[in-house]
Amino acid sequence: MVSDYYSATLIDHFEHPRNAGVMEGADAEAYVTNPVCGDSLRLYLRIDDGRVTAASFLSSGCPASIATSSAATELLVGLSLAEAEALPRERYAEAVGGLPKSKVHCSVLAASAVRQAIATWRQGREAAGPPAHGE
Ligand code: FES
Repeated sequence: MVSDYYSATLIDHFEHPRNAGVMEGADAEAYVTNPVCGDSLRLYLRIDDGRVTAASFLSSGCPASIATSSAATELLVGLSLAEAEALPRERYAEAVGGLPKSKVHCSVLAASAVRQAIATWRQGREAAGPPAHGE
């Protein structure tokens, strides 16, 4: 039975994912796949003044990856980019009440997507150069 395997918090995130869907006009985006199973996650971030102000996701994954992605969209809001990047995968697992040993790898998707989205956002800023006078 699923409830013997997953925590009630995980099941709640899986059945009622927070912030699921495409974010129009996202400032940062990442698409990552889990090499262990092939599941995927697309993460969108809105970034204002060096902080994450909103996050959403699309997932083609197992209950554990959907739940940890859902939890990530709540955990990230309000964090500085450095704080968001530093969140270890264990933090996403904790946020859903822990993961069974065989599903620990599922929390890697959220952690990887956050780091990739922020790294890509930074690269875009560097490529654009310093803001023009008056911006
Ligand atoms: Fe693929 Fe969980 S089994 S992310």
